[in-house]
Amino acid sequence: MVSAHTRYVCRLYKQALNTAYDWYPNRLLSRPIMLQIRAHFEANRNESNPIRLQQILRETEDELQKYKHPLPYKCDATQLYIGKTERPVPKPNEILVKVAYFGMNRMDISQREGKYPPPPGASILLGVEISGVVEEIGKDVTQYTPGDRVFGLMGGGGYAEYAIINEGLAAKVGNLSLDTAAAIPEVWCTAYQAIHYIGGIKQGDDVLIHAGASGVGSAAIQLAKRAGAKRIFVTASTKEKLGYCVGLGATHPINYKEEKFVDAVHSATAGRGVDIIVDFIAGNYFNDNIKALAIDGRMSMQAVLGGSKVETELGPIIFKRLKIEGSTLRSRSVEYQSKLFQTVCQEIVPDIESGVLSANVKKTFNWENIYDAHIYMESNSNFGKIVVSTASVNKE
Ligand SMILES: NC(=O)c1ccc[n+]([C@@H]2O[C@H](COP(=O)([O-])OP(=O)(O)OC[C@H]3O[C@@H](n4cnc5c(N)ncnc54)[C@H](OP(=O)(O)O)[C@@H]3O)[C@@H](O)[C@H]2O)c1
Repeated sequence: MVSAHTRYVCRLYKQALNTAYDWYPNRLLSRPIMLQIRAHFEANRNESNPIRLQQILRETEDELQKYKHPLPYKCDATQLYIGKTERPVPKPNEILVKVAYFGMNRMDISQREGKYPPPPGASILLGVEISGVVEEIGKDVTQYTPGDRVFGLMGGGGYAEYAIINEGLAAKVGNLSLDTAAAIPEVWCTAYQAIHYIGGIKQGDDVLIHAGASGVGSAAIQLAKRAGAKRIFVTASTKEKLGYCVGLGATHPINYKEEKFVDAVHSATAGRGVDIIVDFIAGNYFNDNIKALAIDGRMSMQAVLGGSKVETELGPIIFKRLKIEGSTLRSRSVEYQSKLFQTVCQEIVPDIESGVLSANVKKTFNWENIYDAHIYMESNSNFGKIVVSTASVNKE
């Protein structure tokens, strides 16, 4: 039997959850907060004094304030504007950077549309990667001094004249140009994670990369080639995009508007399938991805551009011993991101500096024209990376 006490606790619990939902309508992002609320109530499960219970609710809400973040704005590209805000102040382990360029990412569009709020604690401004010159350092920073040219990754706030980077998520620009440097952090970390950490690529593996001409896709093609992949299948919507992918190392270009990628994979591999898939589409690609994977295949799911609901047969996942792993880089801990970013800087950036790999900067906009940059990406016209200049520091 449910006691009046249990019902009362449940009501308070629901009240706290509703507060969290109001702040984070996206269920995925509100989940850590939900768990926090549940843990708080679990810890006080046997409390029967109603006054104390009300107090617990207030304590929970105080605790929640730590996570509170203004609701993400929701607008179309025409409503973007350059406004004024407080200059951010670096914490002890952070650096303040005068931004020269920021890289554009598909997630900027999702965030603008209100579908991808920044993680708790991050700036609500768009932008997750920048290059520029160190203006100020936090008191515990040891590796940088004002005047250093740096680039790096952040949870938000890159579309700005000044931005903050955690020391572990920054690196010196070295011989890179500032525009190239701004194009590296997000897509190369995401692609490295997909091909190496999740894909566990080995020499001779066959790989399928969807949205091959995207920023992440064009980095993933080069990483797969560098790791000794045998066949690199890519999907894209046009002949030009597929030609671009072939230039980067793709061996089997597939126009998904003209043929089914699963048929192309089976025909080229005599029905065996591929060892690794890097997917951003999900939706109607999911079942064909499962069919296209070889025994012991691995699939990294990075986005749901084609929809997030699927109906599927689970049997093949079990019988083929498939590994399917999702990830969002932005929600990872600073420690994880820092390890990944520094690995990319050590292993990959020297090859970009020497021209062996390409950071794929295909288009540069001035930030006064940010509307055009968003429309350009939104229309799927871009190949590789778009970077945006703030024109706020002297460029070489
Ligand atoms: N999980 C993570 O940590 C993480 C990190 C970074 C990026 N991402 C995701 O990775 C993807 C690529 O990011 P990006 O910034 O590199 O993107 P991007 O350069 O803007 O490229 C995206 C491309 O995806 C293709 N596309 C879009 N909608 C599609 C659909 N419904 N079906 C098939 N193809 C579609 C389009 O190419 P075609 O013209 O060839 O169709 C488009 O140009 C995005 O979805 C982004 O959210 C995830």
